[in-house]
Amino acid sequence: MLRRSIILALALLVLVGAASYGAEEIKIGLITSTTGDTATFGISVRNAALLWEKQVNARGGILGRQVKIYVEDDKGMPSDAANAALKLINQTKVPVIIGAVTSNCTLAAAPIAQANKVPILTPTSTNVTVTQIGKYVFRSCFLDPLQGQVMARFAVSTLKASTAAMLYDVSSDYSMGLAESFKKQFEALGGKVVASETYSRGESDFSAQLTKIKRVDPDVLWLPDYYNTVGLITRQARQLGIKKATFIGVDGWDSSDLVPLAGDSIEGGYFSNHYSAESTRPMAVAFIKAYTDAYKATPDALAALAYDGCLVVEDAIRRAGKVDSEAITSALATTKNVEAVSGVLTLDADRNPIKDAVVLQVKGGKFVYVTSVSP
Ligand code: PHE
Repeated sequence: MLRRSIILALALLVLVGAASYGAEEIKIGLITSTTGDTATFGISVRNAALLWEKQVNARGGILGRQVKIYVEDDKGMPSDAANAALKLINQTKVPVIIGAVTSNCTLAAAPIAQANKVPILTPTSTNVTVTQIGKYVFRSCFLDPLQGQVMARFAVSTLKASTAAMLYDVSSDYSMGLAESFKKQFEALGGKVVASETYSRGESDFSAQLTKIKRVDPDVLWLPDYYNTVGLITRQARQLGIKKATFIGVDGWDSSDLVPLAGDSIEGGYFSNHYSAESTRPMAVAFIKAYTDAYKATPDALAALAYDGCLVVEDAIRRAGKVDSEAITSALATTKNVEAVSGVLTLDADRNPIKDAVVLQVKGGKFVYVTSVSP
């Protein structure tokens, strides 16, 4: 009898031990671009996600289990993003993926997650079509039509612009979508798009397009692309004698590399973004402090959004009560009122949130808060 109870007690101990101490960590995949054309985006995203990982584990993890993020670098290339999704799903066997960063990469990775029924949440990809891929694809940032609308309104009302030129990347869904929504909104407000010029990824000489734009002398030049291309364009534009036009753009400008690349040419430009480092939301203040302490750099919008995406996934796993792709998918779909750095997050039936945008100005080489706009 005694022996039996001792054996029973021992067996129980082993079981309990396995459940708590030996509990397997929760694997979370992260697809980001830590090298390549949009490396500053990916590094900010990785930094913020690893900061969250540290914090959540210090809080005791999720469902009593520690969290481990598996980072895959997509180099800003859609084909690498697709391979990263395959690897995370088939080899690492993650139940959920955060990423990718740029819309062009997420549009390549998300169909793989969708086909394998593994939920994927992009914290940063704004192109409309991303979440249309299917019910396993979620996002926690605003959509591009908002950026087109906010900046068209800003150009007309604040900058008093009546004419605009656009220069955009026809090989990028992100850039194309933004050109389309700006044009629509600017014209709806009575403005006129007097030149619409294009290029493809990898081009670095924009003199032909800019010469045409110079001829029509627009009030504003709409540049919906990432910082590395925008920096080249604004530099060449001023060199070619485009003096009057105010440069306006989008979240893709948000990089500590923009001003070093563009030099003075970008000074005075405006762009829409997801967050300002001047935010006084308590969540933002705490995040900015923790991030700055950890990385000795002020977090940009990418960092803030990545952290927010992690919070949404954390909330979903807690509500799911188990680490299972189907359960996490259902929980993500009912995300409601998650207090985050860039706002309060609730996902709608199309798996997108509704959020405010901010307008920032490049002033003295820094990004200065101008205004907030609600949709
Ligand atoms: N919205 C961009 C995209 O979809 C990514 C991005 C987000 C860039 C936030 C800068 C800041 O490609």
